Amino acid sequence: MEGIAGKTAIVTGAGRGIGRGLALALAARGARLVLNDLDQAPLEETAALTGGDPALTAGSVTDAQVGERLTEAALERFGALDVIAACAGYTWDGMFHRMTGDQWRAIVDVHLNGTYNTVRPAYAAMRELARAERERGGQPAARKIVTVSSMSAFGNLGQANYAAAKAGIVGLTRTLAIEGARFNILANSAAFGPIDTRLTRAREQQDERVGEAALGIPQAARDAYLASIPLGRTGTIEEAVGPLLFLASEHANYVSGALLEVNGAAHIG
Ligand SMILES: NC(=O)c1ccc[n+]([C@@H]2O[C@H](COP(=O)([O-])OP(=O)(O)OC[C@H]3O[C@@H](n4cnc5c(N)ncnc54)[C@H](O)[C@@H]3O)[C@@H](O)[C@H]2O)c1
Repeated sequence: MEGIAGKTAIVTGAGRGIGRGLALALAARGARLVLNDLDQAPLEETAALTGGDPALTAGSVTDAQVGERLTEAALERFGALDVIAACAGYTWDGMFHRMTGDQWRAIVDVHLNGTYNTVRPAYAAMRELARAERERGGQPAARKIVTVSSMSAFGNLGQANYAAAKAGIVGLTRTLAIEGARFNILANSAAFGPIDTRLTRAREQQDERVGEAALGIPQAARDAYLASIPLGRTGTIEEAVGPLLFLASEHANYVSGALLEVNGAAHIG
């Protein structure tokens, strides 16, 4: 995909899964990267896989300082900021009547507050860069905010916390599309169906955790879920990355406020 070369992009959650896939795809197309993940070792692995020298800022997106540091790294290292893709997150599922406060708050914190913590400083910097370009007599370049929502934002069994947070991300993104328009900042979200990462693999076949949260979907629930999807399978990481790349690229310079559904036709099945 064109329209990526030379852009400076922040990617959170770049240590694994969709965030890693996006980081590698951006690097392959000549973007300059600032990468984040909670976990240092997978983050460094992603950096090595890019074959380049991205700026790395490990730490939790629930920490406001990490968000600020990502933007500072982009400005100090590359003197620019064109794209932020907020991919960090995990699931901690449970039926609502048994959902603890910790479970609710952790998931709202990582997805909704994490998106706020990372996107707000980047957005503020993008606004200033656009203002400076206008003061120099030019038109501001198109800059992109890409957030990650989910099909679960429309409601999903056992995911009240995640659904609420992912729906909140859509409201935030659409608001940024309106507020950012006069600075040529475009904001879009992708709502993924099941993509083949540790979040959607059979829980019985892996032991992946974030804190107390066991990742993955119980096999029986997973089988039923996939049977409800017209394409009848999970999407690959590459199939998730393509739409994110599009939203980050110059091919999407007139696309803003969209919720791009990437879900194997789940909504019409
Ligand atoms: N896999 C799916 O089916 C699916 C569907 C819809 C939405 N999503 C969303 O896509 C995004 C990426 O998920 P994935 O499937 O690639 O999962 P993944 O576990 O493969 O990758 C997510 C990465 O985010 C990191 N992360 C988790 N908490 C973090 C924190 N507090 N601060 C910084 N980094 C943190 C993890 O360490 C991990 O490397 C998430 O927002 C997820 O909710 C995934």
